[in-house]
Amino acid sequence: MYALEQQRIFRGRAWHYVGLEVEVPEPGNYKTTFIGDTPVVLARAENGSLHTVVNRCAHRGNLICREPFGTAAKLYCVYHAWSYTLSGDLSHAAFSQGLRGEGGLPADFDKTQHGLRKLKVDTLCGLVFASFSDDIEPLADWLGEVAPGIRRVLNRPLKVLGYDTQRIHANWKTYHENPRDSYHANILHTFYGTFGLSRQSQESAMTIDRSGRHVYFYTKAGTEKKSTDYDSTANQLRSHNDQMKLEDPSILRWRDEFGDGISVQILNTYPSFVLHQIANSLATRQLIPRGVRQCDLVWTYLGFADEDEATTRTRLNQTNLAGSAGLVSVEDAAVCEMMQRAFADGEDGASFIEMGGKTLESGGSSKLSERAIRNFWNVYRQDMGL
Ligand code: FES
Ligand SMILES: [Fe+2]
Repeated sequence: MYALEQQRIFRGRAWHYVGLEVEVPEPGNYKTTFIGDTPVVLARAENGSLHTVVNRCAHRGNLICREPFGTAAKLYCVYHAWSYTLSGDLSHAAFSQGLRGEGGLPADFDKTQHGLRKLKVDTLCGLVFASFSDDIEPLADWLGEVAPGIRRVLNRPLKVLGYDTQRIHANWKTYHENPRDSYHANILHTFYGTFGLSRQSQESAMTIDRSGRHVYFYTKAGTEKKSTDYDSTANQLRSHNDQMKLEDPSILRWRDEFGDGISVQILNTYPSFVLHQIANSLATRQLIPRGVRQCDLVWTYLGFADEDEATTRTRLNQTNLAGSAGLVSVEDAAVCEMMQRAFADGEDGASFIEMGGKTLESGGSSKLSERAIRNFWNVYRQDMGL
């Protein structure tokens, strides 16, 4: 199943997040990352264009770029000194003419046939995505109704505030389900409800694109509707505790920077990308499978190029809330690992995912729904041919 996922999903017809334009701002800049198990390089060529190539020499398969980030005139393989342009064309193969009339590559060797494997590249609001599929639709069309959720948050030039990578000891799909699971948000994450950043009684909605692949949902803090219905349920939640206070409430201080009252927006694109806005914390999360029982989640914390130091400080402070070890988001990886422990024996092959109804449409735009999870498994089965 894992090998099939790599072939049909990660190397199949899907767009995969590989980085930000601002991570490779100048010609010659490159970044290395992964799409599924495949190592790739995102590079900016001399003419400013962006390229993503498989990080594997066309000669005998050596890894070409080894650093997370770098700057180079050529992509150079240390094994036998084949070198490539930043767009992946072979420019030079060492000793191709041989020496003293001996050795060398065959007379019919055609450099144009031995470049790096080139992927299709597209961008949206500074995000760079790549695909192994040559006939996939443009990124914005593929994202469909979920693209506005990206445009809302990434509305001007970005700056990177920092990174971390978290190894999650669970199958990648347990994490992929998680940010599309709006049902758990106000239950598992006690911090949300206790301190009012996100509660089920607040105004919220969920949008799924028409293919069912992508989803985002939001909540507006401070819009609680009084309802006895809600109160009687909330009293049974461990997340509902009005008595707790923070010694230092600065982590909760947030500014409605996009002017629409949305305090939390979680956006998830199939099969491996998350963009979050949690208060003033902004980050991308890239999911990289590392075998059947583990995956890496790469967090890139963001701000805007034009913001002042105080705003950046607020965002960094809120990584304690919404980072990989944040008071809210630490629980997501934890619950994935607990799930893996519970079902690793493979004995029970079924989940129950009928919150909000049984069909792909049922649940509508309600956050109290597993509609996005039903849709995920539906497209997963289509892509896997199951
Ligand atoms: S493997 Fe790269 S030059 Fe031989
Ligand atoms: Fe969560």
